[in-house]
Amino acid sequence: MRKKIAAGNWKMNTTLDEGLKLASEVVHMAKDESLSETTIMMSVPYTHIESIKKTIGNATNVFIAAQNCHQELSGAYTGEISAAMLQNLGVDCVVLGHSERREYYKETYAELESKTQIVLKHQMTPIFCCGEKLATREENAHFDLVKEQLSSSLFELDAVEFAKVIIAYEPVWAIGTGVTASDEQAQEMHHFIRHTIAKNYSDSIAKQIPILYGGSVKPANAQTLFSCPDVDGGLIGGASMDAQGFIDIAKSF
Ligand code: 13P
Repeated sequence: MRKKIAAGNWKMNTTLDEGLKLASEVVHMAKDESLSETTIMMSVPYTHIESIKKTIGNATNVFIAAQNCHQELSGAYTGEISAAMLQNLGVDCVVLGHSERREYYKETYAELESKTQIVLKHQMTPIFCCGEKLATREENAHFDLVKEQLSSSLFELDAVEFAKVIIAYEPVWAIGTGVTASDEQAQEMHHFIRHTIAKNYSDSIAKQIPILYGGSVKPANAQTLFSCPDVDGGLIGGASMDAQGFIDIAKSF
């Protein structure tokens, strides 16, 4: 049985005060019996990590993620954050290769490969994002692109390391647009990703890797998306900014 995961990506939103209020509501609502088997994650600004860790306390189903980390161990990289710094704060997961970072900060396949490796070396779980822009889908090149994103940055990992990764498929045209991939489109790509993993590693590894869908997930569409056989949960942007809405999504499995 793969984990069921509802991960909120807060992006560059909330002051510390606002973030603490949101996190404490989420942690409180996550105590609901029906969520005991669901992994609830919040990917928060760096400035919030230490305080939100305290808010999470000993909750067993709530985890904290960072939204990026630098690919070098340490050094003269003004404004950056290292894997060791995140590990030291007790961060569980690190979102890597979000399309906003690929687009605005020109993150390359090689950098994402190094980031994935350094996150794993520091005993944290990468949440590796992939996904195509609309033009790529219209050219029917979306499967090739996603395969390239995975193979260029992940497939040098050995099987033991690769088996620790979480994948998030986030079609860029669905992020923040209100346009969600249809259940068929999501399932088709998630199945393709799992098949690609099976070919490069093994069936048993492919079966155990959680693959999340991201892009305009809302309480109203989460249930049908999450019922697709290869969709193991969501990476949720806008709708994770409201505790009740986010928890409703987490209850959609
Ligand atoms: P939205 O849910 O706001 O579309 O954002 C998705 C996303 O980018 C999560 O990482």
